[in-house]
Amino acid sequence: MSNIKAAITGVRIYVPEEKLTNADLERMVETNDEWIRTRTGIHERRILKEAGKATSDMGAAAVTALLESTGTSPDEVDLLICATATPDHLFPATANIISDKCGIKNALSFDIMAACSGFIYSLTTASQFIETGKYKKVVVVGADKMSSIVDYTDRTTCIIFGDGAGAVLLEPTEEGVGIMDSVLQSDGMGREFLHQKAGGSMKPASIATVENREHFVYQEGKTVFKFAVSNMADAAAKIMERNQLQSDDVAWLVPHQANLRIIDATARRMGLDASKVMINIQRYGNTTNGTIPLCLHEWESKLKKGDNIVLAAFGGGFTWGAMYVKWAYDSN
Ligand code: UT7
Repeated sequence: MSNIKAAITGVRIYVPEEKLTNADLERMVETNDEWIRTRTGIHERRILKEAGKATSDMGAAAVTALLESTGTSPDEVDLLICATATPDHLFPATANIISDKCGIKNALSFDIMAACSGFIYSLTTASQFIETGKYKKVVVVGADKMSSIVDYTDRTTCIIFGDGAGAVLLEPTEEGVGIMDSVLQSDGMGREFLHQKAGGSMKPASIATVENREHFVYQEGKTVFKFAVSNMADAAAKIMERNQLQSDDVAWLVPHQANLRIIDATARRMGLDASKVMINIQRYGNTTNGTIPLCLHEWESKLKKGDNIVLAAFGGGFTWGAMYVKWAYDSN
């Protein structure tokens, strides 16, 4: 078996300037700052307001910054995977558009749709391309313009989501670091609890679907919450067990940022102190595929080569999973 692993060798992000605060939401729907903070942990989110700007624009901004920061020429990229639940179009893939906007001409590119678990699904897929030895520079970008599918008259969903993007570069290494293992799962019975009712082949867009507000996120929050708490924690516990990791061995948990209470439950199950958990949900809300790279970027300067990191996510589908990464570089 090959000793090649996929190392994350850089991370960059893009978030829009425009903020949507809890105070703003108080003026839009019947809610209040205290409820939102205590039930979700969110204080504000970023929203991509500029007309004509899409998920690919945020993704391309993150990828351009990533290529610059890692000294990578667009010509060197072999593969680009975009994890998104809000593609620019149903087709072509947003990954194709991001590649074009970044001048990436020698790569294949495709999207992975696994809702909020898309970033770890994509990292796993990308790592397998690297492990073949044929792919040397792979970009994984998680990007979502959730504001394009959120109903700002529905207080149960509009308080949660925000827009943002993050990208990582993966390169081969034989130094015993990189993506070590992942546990990924899905269960389509969960589809009825979190989905977008219309706009696909089951219910193409029509005047009626628009009038019935069926192009927005539909979520049965309590049910999703219940599955998220148990499955995200189970996946994180399983990845630790399979890799003989004790709580003390784990330097950081990088959880999908959907709800502070789900994050806390996962950290508790792993026996981790709160100081080892990356949390920025208060500033960005749930950016779907953006959450994990937004955390990695914010904590990049604190990460050290060899740190054991566990990534964990849960999302629509249902999809969920956890990943064990040995961090590959010191940033200072
Ligand atoms: O990212 C991928 C997957 N998504 C998730 O992981 C999200 C999982 N779900 C959640 O995070 C939570 O279920 C929510 C944050 C969406 C909702 O929190 P909750 O604690 O589950 O609230 P609830 O739906 O049980 O509602 C409790 C009460 C209800 O009132 P009654 O029936 O008790 O009188 C709601 O009508 O809170 C009310 N409520 C609100 N009140 C003020 C619901 N939304 C709001 C709101 N402001 N925005």
